[in-house]
Amino acid sequence: MNRPLGLLAELTHRCPLHCSYCSNPVELTRRTEELGTGQWIDVLDQARELGVLQVHLSGGEPLSRRDLPELVSHAHRIGCYLNLVTSGLALTAEVAEDLAARGLDHVQLSIQDSRADEANAVAGTRGHQLKLRAASVVRELGLALTVNVVLHKGNLDRVGEIIALAEQLGADRLELANTQYYGWAALNRRALLPTRAQLDRAAEVVEEARGGPMDIVYVTSDYYEDRPKPCMQGWASRQLTVAPDGRVLPCPVAGVIADLPAENVLARPLAEIWYSSAAFNAFRGTDWMREPCRSCALRDVDFGGCRCQSYALTGDAAATDPVCGLSPHRHVVDELLESTGEIPVAVPRRERR
Ligand code: SF4
Ligand code: FES
Repeated sequence: MNRPLGLLAELTHRCPLHCSYCSNPVELTRRTEELGTGQWIDVLDQARELGVLQVHLSGGEPLSRRDLPELVSHAHRIGCYLNLVTSGLALTAEVAEDLAARGLDHVQLSIQDSRADEANAVAGTRGHQLKLRAASVVRELGLALTVNVVLHKGNLDRVGEIIALAEQLGADRLELANTQYYGWAALNRRALLPTRAQLDRAAEVVEEARGGPMDIVYVTSDYYEDRPKPCMQGWASRQLTVAPDGRVLPCPVAGVIADLPAENVLARPLAEIWYSSAAFNAFRGTDWMREPCRSCALRDVDFGGCRCQSYALTGDAAATDPVCGLSPHRHVVDELLESTGEIPVAVPRRERR
């Protein structure tokens, strides 16, 4: 069994944005339920001891936590590479300088669209200009910058403009990820699902833009694929997630699987949860697979797809991912795709505090 390389530390679910494509749970963790500073420091120590080298400080918006500087200092001190996953709204020059001095290595900045009005509409707040300011602050400090853009029906036709904006911002890397339908995004699926024609055009634009100094990662909408994504490179194989309340999950979305016995770092050491818990061992390797995955030549390539997607679409986390053309549940995805002609209004994510 591998040691984990990465920790996704979801410090809080609080966030100044209300994106309709958010994959966070519909029931967000309250502020009063969040781990305290000392508890997060203990999580970081345990993760490092377990082998974690990369820490992604995420949320929600990690800058909503007043103790973020202290957590950055500590994670740097114990030898972790630190990535801040942020909306950028509160990333002023002063804040960024302080975090950089404490050891922050990388910033992953979300941008909603190339155009301010459209970006602000999806985010449910007027933050676009603040994000552009954050990008420029990050570049001036010499920190590595990834721009992350979630793609959907409303912005996919502007993927060329989005690439141009990321280049203009000086991004080292651009992640263009079509919406994955978990949490709030699943509720808004009909408003977000693009058409196949949109996806085909976008893929061409992305292909033409490749080859420059900016690395472009493009994640397509898997509903339109015939084989599923190798989600998390296999269940509990490389990374673990600690949710704001201390629940330890094999992937950021696994909390949706109602019958998964999630454990909490406040009750059991991280190493025990990684190596021995029922949740982390539930879908490790290939022994848990049924047909058609069990005898499929691709079972070590895509690991049977995504457990959370299987659960969300079939109610059974051990089922073959319904995206797969060999799955007996593929019709579920096809029926969802048939609804892409409609453009219902997306429901903005609501915030619980
Ligand atoms: Fe992947 Fe299972 Fe489909 Fe084979 S049957 S391609 S292993 S999801
Ligand atoms: Fe949980 Fe794919 S998102 S396994």
